[in-house]
Amino acid sequence: CGIVGYCGDRRVVPVVLEGLRRLEYRGYDSAGIVYLQDGEVVKHRAEGKLVNLESCIGDAIIADSHIGLGHTRWATHGAPTTENAHPHSDCSGELVVVHNGIIENYHSLREELKEKGHLFSSQTDTEVIAHLIEEYLEDDLVAAVKQAIGRLEGSFALGVFWTGMADTLVAVRNQSPLVLGIDKESGSFLASDIPAILPYTNQVIFLDDMELAVLTPEHRIVYSLTDGREVAKETKTIEWNAAMAEKAGYKHFMLKEIFEQPQAITNTVSGRINLESGVVNLPEVGLLPKDLEDIDRIFLVACGTSWHAALVAKYWIEEFARIPVEVDIASEFRYRTLLMNRRVLTVSISQSGETADTLAGIRIARKMGAKILTICNVVGSTMTREADGTIYTHAGPEIGVASTKAFISQLSALFLFSLYLGQIRGTIDGATGKRYGRALIDIATVVAEELPRLQEEIGSLVENYYDSRDFLFIGRGLNFPIALEGALKLKEISYIHAEGYASGELKHGPIALIDKDMPVLALVPRDKVYQKSISNVEEIKARQGRVIVIGTKGDDYLHNITDDVIYMPEVDEVVNPILYTVPAQLLSYQIAVKRGCDVDQPRNLAKSVTVE
Ligand code: G6P
Repeated sequence: CGIVGYCGDRRVVPVVLEGLRRLEYRGYDSAGIVYLQDGEVVKHRAEGKLVNLESCIGDAIIADSHIGLGHTRWATHGAPTTENAHPHSDCSGELVVVHNGIIENYHSLREELKEKGHLFSSQTDTEVIAHLIEEYLEDDLVAAVKQAIGRLEGSFALGVFWTGMADTLVAVRNQSPLVLGIDKESGSFLASDIPAILPYTNQVIFLDDMELAVLTPEHRIVYSLTDGREVAKETKTIEWNAAMAEKAGYKHFMLKEIFEQPQAITNTVSGRINLESGVVNLPEVGLLPKDLEDIDRIFLVACGTSWHAALVAKYWIEEFARIPVEVDIASEFRYRTLLMNRRVLTVSISQSGETADTLAGIRIARKMGAKILTICNVVGSTMTREADGTIYTHAGPEIGVASTKAFISQLSALFLFSLYLGQIRGTIDGATGKRYGRALIDIATVVAEELPRLQEEIGSLVENYYDSRDFLFIGRGLNFPIALEGALKLKEISYIHAEGYASGELKHGPIALIDKDMPVLALVPRDKVYQKSISNVEEIKARQGRVIVIGTKGDDYLHNITDDVIYMPEVDEVVNPILYTVPAQLLSYQIAVKRGCDVDQPRNLAKSVTVE
């Protein structure tokens, strides 16, 4: 979910709506806004996307109100209906709450409050918070919120206001992200993520867990909920500007972000590798070379697309640095028996730095004595603050819900990290290190050169495939995770059922699915497993399967297999996963566009999942 709040000189409705528009990637099951006008609470809520809310607001856009809250919802408790849309109010209707997260004990609280006579009008866990605060409220909102928080279990970021303190917003953070924005001229802001407030200010304060902030137009005071004391918070300056988060002429954010990938690679790599020697320098890892030499195992922990980046990194780290690597889906990692000690390094990989499962994973690993590194795209996000070190991926803001440039920059950062480990531990010789370093630097140019051609070729190819019901993606070695990622992209944005497999695994089951209605996309670069990959594709052909092959330029043999060949330039095979991701992304994109799907905001998904 996404939260926005504002109090100050500006008219609140346009400020909040603009903020919500920029947070829609966090969920778009419903949206709502509330503001205070002439002492009265005015609330508008609508099911579905923000446009629905905008049309029900109508003339209220110019309401002369200067304090309010907004919310865009990704449903957890209660169906995505208007009644369940935030903001939620107490019985009097004078106290209002927006919430991101999950209140785990909401059921028992709800029963308790019902017995005391509170009437509920939604099925959400959030409404319980409003009634609970009401229960404690006399004349001090801050005190009442503090008391209510003491009763809540779970994760929450909250925005609260009450007609009794008409110039004040109260914000609370516990395990769900929240930032404050400061514009000395115009007032105070509150949001789940930076892009929401960037049009107005680049001065922000990141709240930490169990902190409560009191916002008035002129002041922002932050208290610790643990000891009740005021906390001196640092104001940070954000370097992105709002235009960097706009579409820049592309039809969709996703396409824009695919085309920004060469830049994302360069930004992530530059300054971290010596162009002459290939020696990598990553002081931000936050661990001494001696500690890195002592590591005897690495856990990579992530969700979704970031997990696919981790799968590729396993191959790189094991080959370059000779350290055994385990790759875990974060929601599994956090509940399994972990064999962890001080010589284990746990690396979280996350675009947002806020994914609840991944965050829980590193917290558990830390408790067990492991060192923590995070690979992350969002400066100041929770994971970066909790890790011993952070390698930032400099992909810039990613808005399309389906991750593209963040993935490519994760791969680039993980490649650098693998090389760095190999160099420190002496498991990679100078010449090889130099060759790999060069390959990584050059891949940005190769991707930039190939993108326009690929876009065109794949555009005409999808004509024969866009109405498929199912799809398989296969690859071997370093490209097996890319097959998984290709399949994920396709199902996310086109709703075609797609699965990724290791090519060699096909014959153990999935081959039973092969017929003319089950197209297969095969990644077949000329690498050390080329011959094996070819055999796997032949097996599909022999069963009348339809195949799209992505292979190496000059490999004419591929035309014996299928007419639908997409050629990629020959690069050092260690960087193939970076290159082969691009046609897989474009194929999904073109198919989704042809099917008329909502590419940037696919149904049921959210960009950043801050609940378990
Ligand atoms: C969500 C997004 C995915 C993303 C995953 C992990 O499910 O829709 O695109 O890969 O979260 O997000 P993170 O920010 O941790 O990389």
